[in-house]
Parts: sequence; C-alpha cells; structure tokens
Amino acid sequence: MTVHSPLPRPTEVSPATAALYAKVSRVMPEAEWQLHAPYVEAINRLKRTRNAVILAHNYQTPEIFHGVADLVGDSLALARKAAASEADVIVLAGVHFMAETAKLLNPGKIVLMPDMAAGCSLADSITPADIRSLRQAYPGVPVVTYVNTSAAVKAESDICCTSGNAVEVIESLGVPRVLCLPDEYLAKWVATQTKVEVLAWKGHCEVHERFTADEIRRFRAGHDDLVVIAHPECPPEVIAAADFAGSTARMIDYVRSNKPARVLMVTECSMSDNVAAAAPETEFVRPCQLCPHMKRITLPKILAALETLEPRVEVDPAIADRARLAVERMIAVGRR
Ligand code: 13P
Ligand code: SF4
Repeated sequence: MTVHSPLPRPTEVSPATAALYAKVSRVMPEAEWQLHAPYVEAINRLKRTRNAVILAHNYQTPEIFHGVADLVGDSLALARKAAASEADVIVLAGVHFMAETAKLLNPGKIVLMPDMAAGCSLADSITPADIRSLRQAYPGVPVVTYVNTSAAVKAESDICCTSGNAVEVIESLGVPRVLCLPDEYLAKWVATQTKVEVLAWKGHCEVHERFTADEIRRFRAGHDDLVVIAHPECPPEVIAAADFAGSTARMIDYVRSNKPARVLMVTECSMSDNVAAAAPETEFVRPCQLCPHMKRITLPKILAALETLEPRVEVDPAIADRARLAVERMIAVGRR
C-alpha cells in the first residue's frame, strides 16, 4: 500500500478553494476546511490530468461531496451516471458494490476504489449459492436483487433494483410474485406500495437497522413541526413512525421541494450535512448513525488512488456479462 505524507496545511482558505468552501461553510468550520483544502486542490488538479471523474454517493462527507465530486447521487443515479461517463478513469467515492457496478457498465475504463475494504452488510448477507437455492424453492419466481450486492449475486439475478426504483422494477415484470433480495426491510416497504407479492430475504443494513420508532417519538416530543423522512432500509416500525419514506435522492428532493422548517432524516448522517449545506431555511435534527464502510473513503485515499491508478476494481469475466445484463435491465425500466 502506498503511504502518503500529509500535504502542507495553509493557515487560511486559499482563493483556489474559497468557492468550494462557501458551499460547505454552513456545516464545516474554516479550521476544518483548512485541513482538507490542500487535498481538494491536489485532487481537482490531478483528476483533470488523468481525465478522471469522481462519483460520490450521498453518504460521503461534505469535503468529498461538495469539494471534489463531479457527479453525486443515490445508487440509481450513480449507476446511470457511470453508464454515461466519457472519462478514462472513474473514481468511486462510495462502497465496493457501487464500484463493481461502474466497472460492469464501463468494462474498458479504469475504475478506482480508494479503499477496497469499503463493503456493505447487505452485500455480505447473500451469496450466489443462496440465490440458486431460492430458485429451487420458488421455481419460476423472478429474482430481483438490490444493487447492494456483489457482481456474483447480480449474475444469478433476473434484474436489479435500487430503493429509488424497486416498485417500478417489480411492477415492470408483470408477474404476481417476486423474490426481492437481500434487504428484508426494503422488501417489506415495497410490499406496502404494490399489489405484487414480495418475498424477502433476511439481510439488513447495519446502519439503518439501528434506528428505532421510540427514538423518533422522542425527537418528535415538543416539536409538532418536525417532519420525519426515512430510508426504506429502516425497520418497518421506523417507516411507520415517519411522514415519508424514499431513497436518498427522494429524501433530498423532499427537503428541497417542501422546505420544512425542521426535519429529521432517518439515514446515514453525512447526508444531512450535505443537504444542510444548501438548505438555510431548514433546521436539521440529527440522530447520527455513520456507515463505517462509506467513512473509509477519505481525501488522502482519493488522492493516492489518482496518483497510483490503484486499487482497481475488476469483475470476473465469467460472471460479468450476466451481472451487467441484470443492471442494464434495471436501467432500461427507467427509460420506458
Ligand atoms: P440509495 O442511495 O440508493 O437510497 O441507497 C442507500 C444506501 O444505503 C446505499 O448504500
Ligand atoms: Fe451498506 Fe448500509 Fe452502509 Fe449503505 S449504509 S453501504 S446499505 S451498510
């Protein structure tokens, strides 16, 4: 592994990053930005030399999300943006399954994952052998897998989905029953939104499963104006206690369109910072749950990846075509 010494720290915000700092100044003290600024400058310079694009998930920290990312969004948007990319190099500021999806859709490009250990409890909850067993137990029932899975699991699936399009994808199949894997809570939420029978697996997101309905009730006490919006990876009782449920992109749209005076976003907490940076009219109440995998991605690791063009994500050719088909079928549903 390449070890990089820290870049020199300036004592005030440099003119080169002042416009970027303005975007995050509501959520980040100037002293903290000064630690990030040398990396922000170096990354933004180097990505032009490399003809690289940085894709960042909504859960990345503000210095990444607002400081160096070229394209941001939820899992669905990142998959679409990866498919449309014209860069030679894609840096995925997110977790491993997202980089695999980018590689599937860009087999000829270099896809860099700044920390290969950035995994996901949902992706770890199911194996290709599990899918094959489920197909035997439920012959003829289509397998819809959440993008939060390995490429090997995608290769065993009929079609992928994200929390932003799961209902649409499932209804596009025109069947009475589907297997929706591996997130039990996402599957249960989808079942409340459609007449299709949805069979679930037992995977959970280790971040969203920590929220409780009691916690939400405590936040609401004495604050009648509090709007609670939850991610569908939360347990059903948490979603029932919320005012709205949707993917990270839909949660962001909700805040931008409705401009609530006070909001609680029941999801990974960097997202509240990223949205709060541009929503001065809203007060964000933060029950902070961090995803330890997303937090493995840092500016020094992004810089190291761009310098060395490592570590690269590769997908086994024996599974790549079938996995790609499942992702492309999902993307095609949105185009109909
Ligand atoms: P979305 O961004 O698709 O809502 O997914 C949330 C998540 O947990 C990604 O790992
Ligand atoms: Fe996986 Fe949950 Fe982290 Fe998203 S927040 S990467 S679903 S563990």
